[in-house]
Amino acid sequence: MRVFLFFVLILCFSCNSIETYPEGKNLYIKHCSGCHGQNGEGLQALIPPLAKADMFLAAGPYAACWITKGLEGKILVNGIEFENAMPAIKDLSAIEIANILNYTLNSWGNKHRFIGPDEITSITKNCP
Ligand code: HEC
Repeated sequence: MRVFLFFVLILCFSCNSIETYPEGKNLYIKHCSGCHGQNGEGLQALIPPLAKADMFLAAGPYAACWITKGLEGKILVNGIEFENAMPAIKDLSAIEIANILNYTLNSWGNKHRFIGPDEITSITKNCP
């Protein structure tokens, strides 16, 4: 019994460390981390964090519009005001955006349900 429990424990430790969404991670490093940081920590008063960011977690898949259209003006993230501009990133497919969002929304303490590429396509068609 003890041995059995030991193996269950080992399994649980290793299941936590399995990389989820590796493709999303590569795309994040390439397209986003230069501004938002390797661990979604942001950059002081200039760039908002993505890690445990209330604005991002509330938007979920709708953040796809900020990626494809850019975002500027005053925003509030975790009670801190930012007023800067994020450029639109136009060369990403719906699958790539879904991968980036699934990675970022499930890293650094963030938790979100899975987002499929079809959902991204229908959201980005109707961006404000
Ligand atoms: C050139 C720098 C830059 C790049 C590249 C960039 N962002 Fe941003 N991002 C910003 C800035 C600056 C803001 C805040 C805009 C404002 O003040 O209105 C922002 C805001 C955001 C927000 C909403 C605020 C928050 O933190 O919840 C999200 C989500 C976001 N970016 C995700 C991404 C993702 C995902 C990528 C990559 C696909 C990306 N950004 C690429 C600079 C960048």
